Amino acid sequence: MFRILRLIKEFITYDADREFYAKVFPDSLSKVDLMRLRKMRKADLARIMEIETKNYAFPWSEEIFKDCFSVLSYSCWVCEDIEENVIAYAILSVAAGEAHILNISVDPVAQGLGVGRKIMEHLIDISAKKAETLFLEVRPSNSKAQALYESLGFNEIGVRKGYYPAENNTREDAIMLALELMREF
Ligand SMILES: CC(C)(COP(=O)(O)OP(=O)(O)OC[C@H]1O[C@@H](n2cnc3c(N)ncnc32)[C@H](O)[C@@H]1OP(=O)(O)O)[C@@H](O)C(=O)NCCC(=O)NCCS
Repeated sequence: MFRILRLIKEFITYDADREFYAKVFPDSLSKVDLMRLRKMRKADLARIMEIETKNYAFPWSEEIFKDCFSVLSYSCWVCEDIEENVIAYAILSVAAGEAHILNISVDPVAQGLGVGRKIMEHLIDISAKKAETLFLEVRPSNSKAQALYESLGFNEIGVRKGYYPAENNTREDAIMLALELMREF
């Protein structure tokens, strides 16, 4: 019960702070500071599929995203800009002391502004409350994402051979990365 009340309070306080600073000190906040992370809803799926198909040659289907809502150990997030347009999303799995980022994706028009970093920091914060290690996979060809993960302290722990589908019916390896979390639980 207290946990639910705390979550509601955090949510309201965060929004109130954001509105206060936006109105009183508009120049003190960057565009990314004004963006908000919230839980994904089914109504977001059309917009998520737009971003997913722009970003990936082998996108997840809408069915996969729908299935994510019903897995208790998954938490599904979107990032909204100040006009409440969804510009990014992420799916995190946390179970048995291990967290795993299953998808993180920023609309190409909003990339390079700090949105990916903001989402990653959020995922790290919530993972640290329940897990000891945060894992993810990345394509060797995705140097942009690798630079982000490396800057956050992730280390390479192995390679999954032929993990991803690739052009011409081939497969691409996945680099497995892990971040040891500061225990908060
Ligand atoms: C990877 C992705 C999530 C990063 O999000 P983003 O909002 O573009 O990244 P940010 O603006 O927060 O930048 C974070 C870091 O990424 C790296 N980065 C961002 N753009 C880069 C570029 N053009 N070249 C190289 N590194 C880059 C930098 O290390 C940057 O840190 P810095 O700004 O302090 O130098 C985003 O580009 C994306 O959605 N790509 C397509 C989907 C995808 O590849 N998802 C990851 C699958 S593992």
